[in-house]
Amino acid sequence: MNVFWYMCAPDGAYPWQPEGSRQVDYGYYKQLAQAYDHLGYTGALFATGAHDVWVLASALLAHTERLRFLVAIHPGLVAPTLLAKMAATFQEFARGRLLINVVSGDAKMLGAYGMMLPHDERYDMADEYLQLWHRLFAGESVTHQGKYFSTDGAKLALPVGESIAPPPLWFGGSSDKALEVAARHVDTYLSWGETPAQIGEKVKAVKARAAQYGRELEYGIRLYVIVRDTDEKAWEAAADLYGRMDDAAITANQRFVARSDSVGQQRMTALHGGLKPENLRDLEVAPNLWAGIGLVRPGPGTAIVGSPDTVLRTLEAYQKAGVDTFILSGMPLLEEAYRFGEKVLPRLDVSREVSKARNYTWSTLFDRDLSTVKNA
Ligand SMILES: Cc1cc2nc3c(=O)[nH]c(=O)nc-3n(C[C@H](O)[C@H](O)[C@H](O)COP(=O)(O)O)c2cc1C
Repeated sequence: MNVFWYMCAPDGAYPWQPEGSRQVDYGYYKQLAQAYDHLGYTGALFATGAHDVWVLASALLAHTERLRFLVAIHPGLVAPTLLAKMAATFQEFARGRLLINVVSGDAKMLGAYGMMLPHDERYDMADEYLQLWHRLFAGESVTHQGKYFSTDGAKLALPVGESIAPPPLWFGGSSDKALEVAARHVDTYLSWGETPAQIGEKVKAVKARAAQYGRELEYGIRLYVIVRDTDEKAWEAAADLYGRMDDAAITANQRFVARSDSVGQQRMTALHGGLKPENLRDLEVAPNLWAGIGLVRPGPGTAIVGSPDTVLRTLEAYQKAGVDTFILSGMPLLEEAYRFGEKVLPRLDVSREVSKARNYTWSTLFDRDLSTVKNA
């Protein structure tokens, strides 16, 4: 099992409120990275946010010894050859500890960077981008004239495929187009914190798509955790958060997420419908899975709530649904990383390694009838 912890601002006890937010700066990030490393997490997810992920990950690398760096990228914002070079450099310095999280963001966010493509076309572009990525990491010299990108004799100067392993590609996206890109290109498919039953359905759907290309993926989920010594205390902690979710914060967040073209976000919003019931347990959408956080935070909006035994049982329910990677967080990041890291993590069979990127012969793959291609 892989257990990652989250690395991104904002943070704090109630990070949707200015008075509940903590200053997230380089000093704090160093504390987080060293805590995750020390506690034995497999890695950290560097999500896109206020700080640039490559600068942040590079600045933290020397402060860690074993932690894996799962770095989020938006296909197309950086030229494919440059991104491959950045990743190869990081991978060399990190001695193989890099993973890439391919995320397509949403139209509003990407428009700010000058990318005006609509939702589905962003995935067409990502498909072409990832083809170039695979060819570069296969050590090819790439000359390419495509719909979205052109390269003339692009080749990584570093010894990729020899001492520098291609970083595994992980991926988040729930739309039909997203599933197709995942099936064709990535090693691990990630989902925000839907219920075990919903995840089970998604795993089946992605598996079926990937099988069309002769591929097999691994599966992961991104959840919050509220773990305390007893179930009662954990629900008290959830109630404390709930009490701080005022109408203004809920309205502002629901307006923000309603503007997103992300299907994944729509699936998260459907779990609470944007409304705050009197009793917080009315938002318990599966046993011990609470959708209250989505009222005030975009993206993943569910938390596993309970004692260490309850949390373990809930993780098992996800494992039964086909998930073997957990990307977790709590509020604040540091304190909950310690709670989970000391009360739950030692009871899990946590891997400090992650599966290697699968070895496909991409140039051949895309020139052939895809239905006949099997894993190399
Ligand atoms: C685990 C996970 C992590 C994600 N991290 C980011 C991120 O760092 N930045 C971002 O813009 N989107 C992130 N996303 C959101 C994807 O970009 C999102 O699913 C996509 O915008 C919408 O795609 P869809 O309509 O196919 O669901 C993440 C999604 C998942 C499942």
